[in-house]
Amino acid sequence: MVNVVLKEGVNWVGVVDWNLRDFHGYVTRRGSTYNAYLILDDKIALIDTVKSTFSNELIENISELTSFEKIDYIIVNHVEMDHSSSLPIIAKLAKNAKIMASQRGKDALIEHYGADFSRVETVKTGDELKLGKRTLRFLEAPMLHWPDSMFTYLVEDKILMPNDAFGQHLASSGRFDDEVDEHVLMEEAITYYANILMPFAPLITRKIQEVVQMGIPIDMIAPSHGIIWRKDPSKIINAYLNWSAGTAKQKVVIVFDTMWGSTDKMARAIADGVISQGVEVKLLKLRATDNTDVVTEILDAKAVVVGSPTLNNQMFPTIGSFLTYVTGLKPKGKLWSFFGSYGWGGGAVKGMVETAKKAGFEVYEPSVEVKYVPDNEDLKKCIEFGQQIAAKIKA
Ligand code: FEO
Repeated sequence: MVNVVLKEGVNWVGVVDWNLRDFHGYVTRRGSTYNAYLILDDKIALIDTVKSTFSNELIENISELTSFEKIDYIIVNHVEMDHSSSLPIIAKLAKNAKIMASQRGKDALIEHYGADFSRVETVKTGDELKLGKRTLRFLEAPMLHWPDSMFTYLVEDKILMPNDAFGQHLASSGRFDDEVDEHVLMEEAITYYANILMPFAPLITRKIQEVVQMGIPIDMIAPSHGIIWRKDPSKIINAYLNWSAGTAKQKVVIVFDTMWGSTDKMARAIADGVISQGVEVKLLKLRATDNTDVVTEILDAKAVVVGSPTLNNQMFPTIGSFLTYVTGLKPKGKLWSFFGSYGWGGGAVKGMVETAKKAGFEVYEPSVEVKYVPDNEDLKKCIEFGQQIAAKIKA
């Protein structure tokens, strides 16, 4: 392991998953990391573990710094298996260690790994653990990312370890924000926020406000995925405040799929209509663009226009998959509208509108539908439809 020191006595012992390309459906083109940290003081504490595929690497990393019987505490900030699935083997090796988690963390550990984990000790917001010169302070953070999630704050070092929050799926040789390309870093940070944390936007705003009100100084944010923010931790805090506030610009995302090109022609005409009003457009065809990237584009858009051909009286399967994904992520404050083509009987547009309304989305009606192939008159209607949507978001 390349020895990575955050501050004296605070060591990164995680692993880089260079070739991860799918994180439960989220396309991770730049891989990821599972960050774990070892704190060496009078007492020794391990903060989180890694995905079990990399257990051996974690064991080697820890062994280079201490022996397992000397570990006094294992802190479990989050039970999702990318952070906890090495815990059973690590807990066996670190046989003198107390395991600490939130109450919901303890419950989830038992449900994941069995009754052995009944011995987990629970902590709650404000609880502290003295390691010697250092103090760990805990802050429960339910739904960032799961009900069990919590943050660990190293008081004297001013390091916040918030697990999933402020992370990115980014494999790199550098471990810190000043060692990687800033543009790439922020691109992965926003993609991660949009695809993992977007449903919890109100909780994120509240949790950040809570941390700010606590007045705790933060020199470093060390999340469980990707790089550690040390150059300017406020950059990612401000970005989260902006994203969770739902700040959007005059931008329309048109997402569609097509069978024989009719819906494609309609999509292009709608885009022309939007652009003619001076509004930015992103035109994204599914099967060419992943749901992961579509959702990231939607984050700062004021309107989303979805187009589908009708197949067997229903929306196209890729559109069904996209709507399932995006309704789960609950993007707030967008205007949604729909269009599509059909042969002898429709169904796609009706199905899409119903799905959007059921999800509580604001739907702009009427929609535009074309039988078989759009003629010039149909395309004119599509251009006007785009103009109407642009006017709505400019109003
Ligand atoms: Fe990185 Fe919610 O686990």
